[in-house]
Amino acid sequence: MAPTLEFPLNVGQIDDVQELKKSRKTKIPNRFVRDMNERPMLATIPLPSPGSLPIIDLKKLMKGSKEEFHYEILKLSTSCEEWGFFQVINHGIDVDLLDKIEEVAMEFFMLPIEEKQKYPMAPGTVQGYGQAFVFSEHQKLDWCNMFALGLLPHFIRNPKLWPTNPPSFSDTVEAYSLEIRKLCKDLLKYIELSLGLNGNVFEDMFGECVQAIRMNYYPACPRPDLVLGLSPHSDGSALTVLQQGKSSTVGLQILKDNVWVPIQPVKNALVINIGDTIEVLTNGKYKSCEHRAVTHKERDRLSIVTFYAPSYEIEIGPLQEMVDENNPSKYRTYNHGEYSRHYVTNKLQGKKTLDFAKISPKK
Ligand code: OGA
Ligand code: NI
Repeated sequence: MAPTLEFPLNVGQIDDVQELKKSRKTKIPNRFVRDMNERPMLATIPLPSPGSLPIIDLKKLMKGSKEEFHYEILKLSTSCEEWGFFQVINHGIDVDLLDKIEEVAMEFFMLPIEEKQKYPMAPGTVQGYGQAFVFSEHQKLDWCNMFALGLLPHFIRNPKLWPTNPPSFSDTVEAYSLEIRKLCKDLLKYIELSLGLNGNVFEDMFGECVQAIRMNYYPACPRPDLVLGLSPHSDGSALTVLQQGKSSTVGLQILKDNVWVPIQPVKNALVINIGDTIEVLTNGKYKSCEHRAVTHKERDRLSIVTFYAPSYEIEIGPLQEMVDENNPSKYRTYNHGEYSRHYVTNKLQGKKTLDFAKISPKK
């Protein structure tokens, strides 16, 4: 029998999917089998036209000619409005560091389950090894093992959850996260410019940003048509940076015009998506797009995801500049800490979490 993680909360038995894969059983446990309307419908996903998701060249934004800069800013604004996603190339982060974080993540996931379970994700929390966002024994499970750590501000860290094995894990996470933090700051600045805003509106407003990392490991699944790697959701962050593993297995899909579009990995590019915070601040102009992950029949897949969000005590609501008679406020002003709590205490369910902030149309 596959070892299980057992929680005192009534979330039922959560099978570890890597162990399930090792057991070589072809029958998928019922808790992973999605209801018909949630299944990935693999056959109906259209092949993506290459390069369909916009690719932003950060070098052109930072050091390009005036024309290059304007062209890239325009592309950025279209991506954020129409997709809520883009990929960024020439991001300036050392490829060796991207390789290294993948390497330590892989080493961690390849450890025996007993070792990984020294860092358990307690029910209702989102740090450690296990499966986040499970709140009831009836809830369907994702075909994914997660390992997540809060990074900044320091008080969100739980040192007991930082693995000592592989030995270079922690240092690599620290170095990687510093670079990703810089990238997020830069991207937010350009996103602001693409909205016609000046200065450091986001930077000034956000305070000391909250940053967390989550490594998602999706083992191959004998029936990818029945399960989901990660349930549909939007991210509760301001920005998310996703590194797709080198295996270049396609797994991430985004919901665009009601069609699930697979995101093709681009070598050394990082996938960026707009989170709920930016959707609210821009009064819905920039979309925090719903996305999910599907599994592959033969290949495992790894993703490394950074969430970058305002400080918990910050009040968030649509920016004045984004609201006028033709565009009345779609969202109320709320405390970001409360939103975060709301986000992590509810199961992933498309864009439902954002209802927390929505003003009903009648008002
Ligand atoms: C996430 C996420 C997608 C992926 O972790 O929030 O959307 O491809 N991950 O792992
Ligand atoms: Ni996500």
